Amino acid sequence: MGKHGKKQKHKHQHQHQHQRRGRASYISEEEQEQEYPVSLPSSLASKLTLSDKENESEDEGEKIEEDDESDKNPLTSDIPSKFLLYQQSVQSPKGDISYLQKFFLMYVGGRVPLHLQEDFCGTALLSAEWLCSDPRRTAVGLDLDIEALDWCIENNVNKIRADGYSRLSLFHGNVLQPLEATLVKFECQDPIPDITPKDNEDGIDALPLDSTLQGSPITFPKVKFMKDYQLPARDIVCAFNYSCCCLHTRQELVLYFKHALNALNRKGGIFVMDLYGGTSSECELRLQRRFPNFTYVWEQAGFDIIQRKTRISLHFNLTKQHKKLRHAFSYSWRLWSLPEVKDCLEDAGFRSVHFWIRRMPDSEEIRSVEGFGDSRDTKYEDVASFQQRDSWNAYIVGVA
Ligand SMILES: C[S@@+](CC[C@H](N)C(=O)[O-])C[C@H]1O[C@@H](n2cnc3c(N)ncnc32)[C@H](O)[C@@H]1O
Repeated sequence: MGKHGKKQKHKHQHQHQHQRRGRASYISEEEQEQEYPVSLPSSLASKLTLSDKENESEDEGEKIEEDDESDKNPLTSDIPSKFLLYQQSVQSPKGDISYLQKFFLMYVGGRVPLHLQEDFCGTALLSAEWLCSDPRRTAVGLDLDIEALDWCIENNVNKIRADGYSRLSLFHGNVLQPLEATLVKFECQDPIPDITPKDNEDGIDALPLDSTLQGSPITFPKVKFMKDYQLPARDIVCAFNYSCCCLHTRQELVLYFKHALNALNRKGGIFVMDLYGGTSSECELRLQRRFPNFTYVWEQAGFDIIQRKTRISLHFNLTKQHKKLRHAFSYSWRLWSLPEVKDCLEDAGFRSVHFWIRRMPDSEEIRSVEGFGDSRDTKYEDVASFQQRDSWNAYIVGVA
């Protein structure tokens, strides 16, 4: 799942995304990776085992490599989706939701948070989990990547309750122009039931997604934009897995935060994003987490200290299939600092900003951790000051 800037930049990057996804090439594995365990910083994904290695390829396009065993293996065609692999090795939606609820209670309170907007949602796994947690809940997901959104509909939405699709609105578009984002069609046969009426900012019940379509098979005569819908005012807007790093300029970050604030309920709401950092995060690094059927590899290219930019690539090595899904995801990121984010949230109009940080294990310590290791056991703490470390993760909460 990828990223971007504004206008021209977005256009260009979106094209790049499609190029990335477009073609998977099968090449011999003579360039078999050699892994050199080194002391690596552990910041990111809070979820990785470390290893280091030589640069794999100049070509950052998505590709599948196979090894010599692959021809003999009947499972070679059985390659799991990169989205499934990502969800299994990167995301922890239950943990995120429990913190979202805690933050809402602390900084808003007085009601149960029901309406979530997941910006940069990718396959909207968090939204799906949110809907599962309470039948009154609704979710709005927004992302530039139509392939990820389609995959969500095929694979995540149908795992919710039967009414799941009616409580989830997925929009394809840019977080910098959310109202221009277009609704993604659900290819379901049932009529659209009413979404639970919600208080919007004016205290008026929100309309169903499209009341004119109730009782009839879903057919969308034309493209529908987010601005065409009266969505419930959101209690929480979130941007996870460091997605705000996809925005490269201060102007973009402030604009995005203004849109997030605008989506929040005037009776109170929060914006929550995450960020990583630490001394180990500002250099090249390669981290690896091993799961029973595959290995997830996080690769951070060199870190430019002037622009604070880096390129992240995610690779998956499939054990049974003897294949490597290289550059399955690739991002150009600006690694924002905590005070920069705070300033931008305040400039956008948020009333207060809070940092919840957890120390991550030093890279040396997690060199050979399997799976998620024990990084998820460490709790985030509300802090006003935090001494620099090898690696940390943060939730940043903006209170509307
Ligand atoms: C790092 S992934 C995060 C996906 C998901 N939120 C998660 O928690 O794993 C970043 C996502 O942001 C999307 N994205 C990047 N720039 C965007 C933009 N300007 N507007 C909307 N989506 C964007 C990408 O398509 C990608 O799905």
